[in-house]
Amino acid sequence: MAVIAKHCPNIQITVVDLSQPRIDAWNSSKLPIYEPGLFEIVESVRDKNLFFTTEIDAAVLAADMIFISVNTPTKTKGIGKGSASNVCYIEAAARNIAKVSKSSKIIVEKSTVPVQTASAISKILRANSSDPSIKFQVLSNPEFLAEGTAVRDLLAPSRVLIGGPQDEAGFDAISKLVAVYANWVPREQILTTNVWSSELSKLVANAYLAQRISSINSISMLCEASKADVDEVARAVGADVRIGPHFLKASVGFGGSCFQKDILNLVYLCESFGLPEVAEYWRQVVTMNEWQKERFTRRMISSMFNTITGKKICLFGFAFKKDTGDTRETAAAYVAKYLLDEDAVITIYDPQVEEEDMWLEFKYTLGITEETHPNLKKSIVLVSDPYEAAQDSHAIAIMTEWDEFKSYDYQKIYESMTKPAFMFDGRNILDHQSLFDIGFEVQCIGKQLPSHFDE
Ligand code: UDX
Repeated sequence: MAVIAKHCPNIQITVVDLSQPRIDAWNSSKLPIYEPGLFEIVESVRDKNLFFTTEIDAAVLAADMIFISVNTPTKTKGIGKGSASNVCYIEAAARNIAKVSKSSKIIVEKSTVPVQTASAISKILRANSSDPSIKFQVLSNPEFLAEGTAVRDLLAPSRVLIGGPQDEAGFDAISKLVAVYANWVPREQILTTNVWSSELSKLVANAYLAQRISSINSISMLCEASKADVDEVARAVGADVRIGPHFLKASVGFGGSCFQKDILNLVYLCESFGLPEVAEYWRQVVTMNEWQKERFTRRMISSMFNTITGKKICLFGFAFKKDTGDTRETAAAYVAKYLLDEDAVITIYDPQVEEEDMWLEFKYTLGITEETHPNLKKSIVLVSDPYEAAQDSHAIAIMTEWDEFKSYDYQKIYESMTKPAFMFDGRNILDHQSLFDIGFEVQCIGKQLPSHFDE
């Protein structure tokens, strides 16, 4: 909305939320999320044509177009538990819009939703509207931005996708939303289609991206078992324009709020449509990711003489990728869990992650709380200085590809660590040769590195 406000000074935008603290944060100098460049944009339009408020009904009443951007978490119980998306917040928003509205509106489904949610929204709106002359057109407009590059992606999107009903009123609504984006996005990059294709495209785009990572990670395992180097394989494979060089970076595993959730959602859809083989095909992308995280930790433990009981282990990075403080589904939490199961003492340093978010991630994704682990806050500690985090540790594991990790004084870090000092680079971002020369035992993803033990 901030980017739309920036490019469309004639459109007045009001962002509403039930949570007063969240709205207060959007109105303050510390926004509730970190994204490079976001604060500058928000500041330039806030209280001009971009407003944040909890007065939901008034904003709904006044709007010509309403974007529904509520979250759709994976269900934790009931039918489809563990894979289907819970669309209860979408339904609640639709019911409220129907109740409050006194004029026709265009409803834009922005949340990532299962296929056919737009038709459910339409039915709810129609059934709950007090006045039959009020018409709602429901469009699908999935968001393809990635975290950490959100502003850049929004300013120059690869494409904008708009799905709508394929009738006259639908085409009219589509053209109104196209006109908004056309203020800064070249017209040929604004794709229009029917609602279901649009909804499904979002799930499929994420499934394809995640599949690339699981594919290269599966090859990283083969490389470690043989003498190939996964970065070399990715370079050679990615040079084929039909494949392309992006998203071929082997890692400790993908995280984030979208990939796993959207694939599982796709899996659930396939199962619901009676296509178990298709469901199984896509589920394997998630299974491979699970195994990559577990396997990385197993390698750490076996390198450290098969025991890490009581050993201090330092994780550099907890966010699911660089340039964000988001911890949802981060590989780091899974690695920490496996280390915790072996009674290691874990210190974590991340330049952006808030401690509260870290504990929420342990609680909700992994079920780890002080009740399940009485000494939890002694076993896992978030510290604000990387050198302090590394001090006296037996090993450092790189979990997130933050640029600053590349420029630390590793000589100083090495000297402060317990020997032999291990470095496990889960992102293949460090200079492995110079770390080896300092004295580190280095391991990374998808290649065999020399060991001082072989000398
Ligand atoms: C993703 C999609 O990219 C975006 O289009 C969609 O709108 C939302 O989901 P996001 O989850 O923010 O965006 O981040 P992304 O950059 O896709 O990274 C996801 C995960 O994959 C991260 O954990 C990242 O570190 C990992 N990754 C990415 C790799 O391990 N290797 C790669 O080559 C690329």
